[in-house]
Amino acid sequence: MHIVNTVDALRVLIHTWKAAGERIAFVPTMGNLHAGHCQLVKAAKEKADKVVVSIFVNPTQFGVGEDFDSYPRTEAQDQDKLRAIATDVVFQPTVLEMYSPHAKTVVSVTGLSELYCGASRVGHFDGVATVVCKLFNMVQPDIALFGLKDFQQLAVIRTMVKDLNMPVEIIGIETVRETNGLAMSSRNGYLTPEQRQTAHVLYQVLCQAREAILAGNGDYANVEQQALLALQQAGFQPDYFRVCRSNDLASAQLDDTELVLLTAAKLGKTRLIDNLSFTR
Ligand code: PAF
Repeated sequence: MHIVNTVDALRVLIHTWKAAGERIAFVPTMGNLHAGHCQLVKAAKEKADKVVVSIFVNPTQFGVGEDFDSYPRTEAQDQDKLRAIATDVVFQPTVLEMYSPHAKTVVSVTGLSELYCGASRVGHFDGVATVVCKLFNMVQPDIALFGLKDFQQLAVIRTMVKDLNMPVEIIGIETVRETNGLAMSSRNGYLTPEQRQTAHVLYQVLCQAREAILAGNGDYANVEQQALLALQQAGFQPDYFRVCRSNDLASAQLDDTELVLLTAAKLGKTRLIDNLSFTR
């Protein structure tokens, strides 16, 4: 497994593979890898000849007072995990390698980036779109794989790729969950043992809301209110719970059939997000 820290070193490898006609898959991460990330890499291996994984805790997607400094950095363990699943390259740039202090360009997917998580984390999705755009330019992948857990992030990236005619196929991979339903996330590591007993309720409430809709409740505002209440009663401080259309994340209307429930809630200091897609 190659470990590279510079764009120049990465480009040498990419150039060689492209010249040999090899198909390149890319999995961008911020490290602290869990089973969900490994699932992305395994899916990437099945679909391409070479797999590049980036590990970069991207400062531009964290707001003031968020967890950029405390975000878990576990390089050695991450490299071991990636080596065990036959990753070809780990790209681990420094902040200076990624961002010139003189850079003037930001990629912004307007509208979508201001909704839901974007409303509470102002500028977050501009940071995500900008770093993913830069990483795509560096890696030049044929395909890139992202977890469906970050449903809004995936929608932002798909929109960016379409709007900017980027020659990369975006593939969403199913969320990996603990046996109790809790979606795997690097931020789960912030939870206390007691909070861990409660965290799976986020998924339970999503499932209950889906059942209510499938049983015929078409009053989506009511479904959202019930869900928010259930989260509060379980000890969460909910940020939002929304019934959306899956293709553009607008509020769902009664004639929409492809739905996604999106939610974010804090448990103590930890902000958890999750979602559930289904056909009505
Ligand atoms: O989902 C993540 O880990 C990050 O948002 C990403 C896509 C690697 C960009 O920094």
